[in-house]
Amino acid sequence: MGVTIKDVAERAGVSISTVSLVINGKGGVSDELKEKIEEAVEELNYHPNAMARGLKSKKSKVLGLVVPDILNPFFPQVIKGIEDAAKCYGYTLILGNTDGKMEEEARYLHLFVEKCVEGIIFIPSGTFNKNIRLFREIKVPRVVIDRALDDIKVSTVMTDNILGAYLGTRHLLANGRRRIIFVSGPPNLQASKDRYAGYIKALDEFGIKEKIVEYGNFTFESGKMVTTDALEKKTKFDAIFAANDMMAFGAMVVLAEKKIAIPEEVEVIGYDNILFSSLSKPSLTTIGQPAYDMGYEAVKIVLREIFTKKRNSYVSKLLEPKLIIRESRPRRN
Ligand code: RIB
Repeated sequence: MGVTIKDVAERAGVSISTVSLVINGKGGVSDELKEKIEEAVEELNYHPNAMARGLKSKKSKVLGLVVPDILNPFFPQVIKGIEDAAKCYGYTLILGNTDGKMEEEARYLHLFVEKCVEGIIFIPSGTFNKNIRLFREIKVPRVVIDRALDDIKVSTVMTDNILGAYLGTRHLLANGRRRIIFVSGPPNLQASKDRYAGYIKALDEFGIKEKIVEYGNFTFESGKMVTTDALEKKTKFDAIFAANDMMAFGAMVVLAEKKIAIPEEVEVIGYDNILFSSLSKPSLTTIGQPAYDMGYEAVKIVLREIFTKKRNSYVSKLLEPKLIIRESRPRRN
């Protein structure tokens, strides 16, 4: 008999109902007790009894999906691809939005086990590495989209972000830009590291020594903040390469407020090619990600593992980025 909720309650010195409140993410439990219960769950390697029943015996026809920021227009495109593929195979989704919080990621992973999902599709947040152990222990077919994880073997589907950022930076350099601020996403995300690598690769090719790197968190506000800081620090720059469109919009708003002409004085490019990038004034040059295909491919990978019951066969799919040039024009000499 595996570890039971009763064992966890005894270890933590609380009632079974208190443990149940915590593992189901319900409120009403003090932080101190919550921490004690989470430690007991970790120490006893407890998983709710759906795990003990053995997920493989359950045909729930349900997939669990976790996204870090449902308000970022990039993710709904991915979700559409996931949903369309799941529907094709008669599966439904449980969608969890974590707002980048690791405790929310853990809560949804526990919930997916409780609900006996047959597979998990995961877009991790920047703090996911703290949930790696839990993710590894849940023996359910899974696939990670967009943000590869360190030290865990798992199938992944993502864009070739090194190539994408290389194309974007090279485009700016070809337009005569020489002082390009790269606004990165959260530094610990593989997508951020790869886009930074693409930026460096293009600068090195052009013999540009000075790298100007700032860090945002993929939100509009962080794009505004980084640009405001750069102007206040009197950083000299003639272009901003934001590692996603939302941060690029933030940068454009600040530049416009300061009456800095875009793209004549400062060219701005983004990454993702969300719908608004074609509607902004000026329209935004960006790097297109095949977001819908990322979602669709991810479902095919996880279902293949479910149907074939082949464990430990990892697939890593790298999809093609595309430079989408809009109202950019070469630097005025
Ligand atoms: O805009 C959100 C960003 O987070 C996208 O670039 C996507 O690739 C993800 O990493």
